[in-house]
Amino acid sequence: MRVWPVDAVGPEAARALSDLHEACFPSGEAWSAPNIRNLLAMPGCCAWVVATHDGLAGLVIARKALDEAEILTLCVAPDYRRRGVAQSLLKRMSESMKHAKVEKIFLEVRADNAAARTLYTSAGYSRCGFRANYYSDGSNAIVMCANLSDSL
Ligand SMILES: CC(C)(COP(=O)(O)OP(=O)(O)OC[C@H]1O[C@@H](n2cnc3c(N)ncnc32)[C@H](O)[C@@H]1OP(=O)(O)O)[C@@H](O)C(=O)NCCC(=O)NCCS
Repeated sequence: MRVWPVDAVGPEAARALSDLHEACFPSGEAWSAPNIRNLLAMPGCCAWVVATHDGLAGLVIARKALDEAEILTLCVAPDYRRRGVAQSLLKRMSESMKHAKVEKIFLEVRADNAAARTLYTSAGYSRCGFRANYYSDGSNAIVMCANLSDSL
């Protein structure tokens, strides 16, 4: 699959990140620019993007705390899906976290989000927990994690 160039970005990219988030998630779930700006100003929070000639194709935001990290959000513009963008983002994020001495990465995914669950499984994540009624609409979450000492 194609490997996309991935760039790290900071709070100055909050507007573009929010626009992409809005294009990817239902209204009510999308994150606003001020929220993203505040998040990225917090210690340990980082964002990476795939940028193309017509704007951002994908983003991932993660937070590091000591030797663990959490993926806070990941999305790819509808026109760029199934072309390896998310895979490239996850690979770059993992490399950065490994470099920063992170040993384990966690994430939560909607139990009914088959696309994301398949993506994460193919990227080396496995189920390590379950949170009932985790989302505001009552949906359940699956917790997944990956050990960076394993080959990701
Ligand atoms: C989930 C999402 C990030 C995947 O992004 P993507 O760039 O299309 O994913 P990739 O092209 O890197 O896919 C890599 C692999 O993941 C799996 N995958 C991705 N999308 C899939 C889908 N719709 N159905 C089944 N498997 C899928 C496949 O194994 C795929 O490899 P393949 O295309 O060779 O079969 C994207 O669909 C998205 O933004 N969805 C809306 C937001 C969202 O759900 N984010 C995750 C929140 S936890």
